[in-house]
Amino acid sequence: MKIFKLVSILLLLSLFACDYFDDSQSEEGKKIITNQQIRESHSYANIEEVFTKHLHLDMEVDFDNNSIYAVARHTMINKGSDTAVFDIKGLEIQKVTLGEKDHEINTNFVIGMEDSILGAPLSVKIDKNSTLINIYYKTTEGSEALDWLKPEMTKGKKFPYLYTQGQAILTRTWIPSQDRPSNRITYSADVKVPEGMIALMSAKNPTKKSKDGLYHFEMNQPIPVYLIALAVGNLEYRKIGKNCGVYSEPEMIRQVAWEFKDLRKMIVAAEGIYGKYQWEQYDVIVLPYSFPFGGMENPRLTFANPTLLAGDRSLISVIAHELAHSWSGNLVTNATWDDFWLNEGFTVYFENRIMQSLYGKDIADILALIEFQELKAEVKEISDGDHPEDTYLKLSLDGRNPDDGMTSVAYVKGAFFLKTLEEKVGREKFDVFVKGYFKKFQFQTLTTEIFEKYLEDNLLKPNKIKFNTKAWLYGKGIPKNCIKIVSPRFVAMQKMADNFNAGKDIFKIKVKKRRRKIDLKRDMYVTQEWLAFIRRLPRNISIDKLKLLDKKLDFKGWGNAEIATEWYILGVEAGYEDIRPNMEKFLKKVGRRKFLLPIYKTLANRPTDLKWAKDVYAESRANYHAVSQNTIDEILKFNLKPAKV
Ligand code: BES
Ligand code: ZN
Repeated sequence: MKIFKLVSILLLLSLFACDYFDDSQSEEGKKIITNQQIRESHSYANIEEVFTKHLHLDMEVDFDNNSIYAVARHTMINKGSDTAVFDIKGLEIQKVTLGEKDHEINTNFVIGMEDSILGAPLSVKIDKNSTLINIYYKTTEGSEALDWLKPEMTKGKKFPYLYTQGQAILTRTWIPSQDRPSNRITYSADVKVPEGMIALMSAKNPTKKSKDGLYHFEMNQPIPVYLIALAVGNLEYRKIGKNCGVYSEPEMIRQVAWEFKDLRKMIVAAEGIYGKYQWEQYDVIVLPYSFPFGGMENPRLTFANPTLLAGDRSLISVIAHELAHSWSGNLVTNATWDDFWLNEGFTVYFENRIMQSLYGKDIADILALIEFQELKAEVKEISDGDHPEDTYLKLSLDGRNPDDGMTSVAYVKGAFFLKTLEEKVGREKFDVFVKGYFKKFQFQTLTTEIFEKYLEDNLLKPNKIKFNTKAWLYGKGIPKNCIKIVSPRFVAMQKMADNFNAGKDIFKIKVKKRRRKIDLKRDMYVTQEWLAFIRRLPRNISIDKLKLLDKKLDFKGWGNAEIATEWYILGVEAGYEDIRPNMEKFLKKVGRRKFLLPIYKTLANRPTDLKWAKDVYAESRANYHAVSQNTIDEILKFNLKPAKV
């Protein structure tokens, strides 16, 4: 096999993005930068020379060997290059061919040095007129996107299960691809799964099982490859309303349909704010507990964690969030992972607007305040750590895992930046601006710098407004002009926590116009109010008080993962042993990183608990997706290999 020089990759890494502009527009005298030229430190792909336009996947899912055997057929636009570079990690490449199916000719390829975060470049020899590149490969144990579950790990316990998680740079671990968000592609797939199982993708989906286990998929709207997704299991569909429904294992489909009953209303509310939903269908699939996120916005099919099934619809804001990504993220996409706040900050802002529209300002404000508490704590932690610049909205993640940017800075500082702007210009003008932004940049990707200029030209200048945009985007911490949310309900919960801590009886409540007092019950308050309550309790609270709370309110037996996590953390910090059995069960079952991370972190901070945490983790690790494993390995300094003697 010939060896090719990887000069193009080095050239690519040295490219710099300038201040403007998108593909289609230009201003005289301005240097133009196309999406293909945006600097990217998390991909080897030379998309400025040759890039995928359409991808067809032929796949066979083999549950006996936990492997996908596949051909990735890339239709490329080639500007005249003799090499096409793809990203791969944990894949076994068998051969690469050029040309139409059945008329293919083998071509040479070379795999570069493996980087532990990025994987390796796969450089394929092409000629100047090549447009079809077919990569034959199989996935391996190192394919981190894939979570293969044995039947015991599913609800039904009869069929195995497989799902993928592509964001941020894991698509390359199950599809050899140009894995950078600034390239958008359409895709199609032919997938074979064992008979009796359904395959679903982030594409037009079946609602019934096929007889032969064969499924065909089409995604005709261009998306970045991190949004390609697959789930295979024993799944059932239930329609909720016009153009929306839910999938899950049959054993939980009723519960799922009940919990997400408001799906249609959410779509209507979202469309009322920012215009038509562009992806035709919006479905949600509830995956097994190991899914590392609350939700993932795969187009047309949000992936969701079963911990959202609180039984009282109180965690539905995660669905509002994933739906909101149909505009921010999926329609208008961050060009690089340094611009991640453009995806998440806009989405948290939009999520809050949807919640406000459906459930009122009170609820939306409580949600926002809970998040703001998390932001303040995280800003402090980051500022004291190795990368204080991680509190900027615009990140610099060169040489690091893009997952490091997944902090509440992108999410909540991003959202509060937009809230503050909204307050400054008024909702009416701000809505027109954001709606215009989604329209202008739909099916495109953009950088923070492009956004900054667009904001200046289309909102601030026309309204003669001075705003500290630069401080928000490229400055530390939370700027002083940040909007202040006032929530009487939130404050009341904190007051109740203070009263309880001061020894007052909070369990009998006076009700106006009634003589008798009534008992305090947990359904009198929403989840986030209880979070405010628990967070307010001092960390050295007495065990008797915690016992009393458990007796009256049964936080540990509640089955609400948000409350449970907060309660376990307080319990560990206060040395309250009664939580252990529940906490252990929880850690063994739930793989959602948002919960695992703070619990394991709290345990790891306490030398007496570290051993316990490691023991529980050793037993639970196999039940988590690689995304969560990687995070917790680091926290616990968990080393799978035996220490060298
Ligand atoms: N897109 C994210 C999940 C993600 C981000 C995966 C970065 C990989 C890399 C998703 O929309 C998300 O933000 N999920 C949150 C929901 C929450 C903020 C409402 C989660 O899972 O907790
Ligand atoms: Zn999100």
